[in-house]
Amino acid sequence: MSRLVVISNRVAVPKARGAAGAQGGLAGALNSALKKFGGIWFGWSGQESEDRTGNINLQRNDGVTTATIDLSTRDIDEYYNGYANSTLWPLFHYRLDLTEYERETGKGYERVNERFAECVTPLIEEDDLVWVHDYHLLPLGERLRSRGLKNRIGFFLHIPWPPTRLFVSLPFHDRLVKTMLDYDVIGFQTQEWLESFLHYCSKELGAEVDEETGRISYEGRTVLAKAYPIGIDWDHFQAQGETGEARQAQQRLMSSVRHRTAMIGVDRLDYSKGLPERIDGIGRFFDQHPDRVRDLVFIQIAPPSREDVESYQQIRTVLEQKSGQINGARSEVDVVPIRYVNRGYSHAELYGFFRASKIGLVTPLRDGMNLVAKEYLAAQDPEDPGVLILSRFAGAAAQLPDAVLVNPHSPDDLSHAIKKALDMPLDERKRRYEGTIGTVRDDNVQDWTEAFTNDLASVPI
Ligand code: F6P
Repeated sequence: MSRLVVISNRVAVPKARGAAGAQGGLAGALNSALKKFGGIWFGWSGQESEDRTGNINLQRNDGVTTATIDLSTRDIDEYYNGYANSTLWPLFHYRLDLTEYERETGKGYERVNERFAECVTPLIEEDDLVWVHDYHLLPLGERLRSRGLKNRIGFFLHIPWPPTRLFVSLPFHDRLVKTMLDYDVIGFQTQEWLESFLHYCSKELGAEVDEETGRISYEGRTVLAKAYPIGIDWDHFQAQGETGEARQAQQRLMSSVRHRTAMIGVDRLDYSKGLPERIDGIGRFFDQHPDRVRDLVFIQIAPPSREDVESYQQIRTVLEQKSGQINGARSEVDVVPIRYVNRGYSHAELYGFFRASKIGLVTPLRDGMNLVAKEYLAAQDPEDPGVLILSRFAGAAAQLPDAVLVNPHSPDDLSHAIKKALDMPLDERKRRYEGTIGTVRDDNVQDWTEAFTNDLASVPI
């Protein structure tokens, strides 16, 4: 059996108490795939250092070998904060207004991709399957090929792929996508992002695209592009729910809200998550139903993220103002309607908080998938489940049509959904829960890993 070499920007959860599920679940899944196949996980250590000697830190933990490199201040600035998170991230989340186009950061992005290729190539053996992850490393396949690598190389994009008419605003867009066609398999979270990519390849590159099979033929190479919706680690998450830590967290939340309904949101503090819009929707609900202020407590858990990027600093300020305004206007000595918490919690604690919350609010303006939506459902009591309010613009909406789907830009729509969720009878809650939970349980992250690696291993070379 081939070994697996996973390459991603970060190698493991940087903080044990990670942001919002996604990284934790993914890390767990990739770790178990690595244990199964054997192999290496390569990426940035998360550390800053000016060491350019190409030192690779190899570690073996719990059956998995990780190989990490440090990046210099300039590399972090241009590659991570710059091109990845100030150009690609906003553009891929449809935020042209926040997208910066700087040649220098583009060069830094290429330089770090080249450095990744240089450092990882000697670690790759002839039969290894190579699996590259996410928007930080779009051109890595081409960099690896230029070093003579003939292995099967796959790529998975965790975030949306934007429509062609947005994507073409990126200088050198064609050059970037051509580098991606050096992969053998390219995976997307949903059919929608896949279709946007195929459309681009056909219309802008003139590639031959078979929409049925997702095969793209271009300059003598054939690439398989396909949707592989990511799932949660169901078994691991359920095991977390059995712990004392989860039960304590549930009790702690329930006793603090007393007879009121807890409504919860858990997101990295990111403008793509629709947090200010969410607070506006809650404000609208209180305006339209002032008699219900005492019925509801909204808990927003939002650990800070990418704090060196200006747009992230701005979103934090906006959110503080908006939640402060509503609390100022609507609080009583014994009622504070919004609890805004700038820190992360463990998976077990999140399980407990989700279980204690009768409404889960997941309303990104745009999201590749969103695993918080799936974790919220996974934590519910099947006999008395809570209601998931989900943005129709999250990739997860395509898989969870029985959630209460909303337009996160519309405060009225959000207000209406909150009212509906608060008043929803048990039989409808159960019907919606039963309509979604099978997908959450069965289309899990192990299946996702297997589907992708099976397709990659089947590529003829
Ligand atoms: O979902 C996109 C993503 O970049 C993941 O790859 C990552 O786990 C998460 O967001 C957190 O981002 P960062 O590594 O920038 O903190």
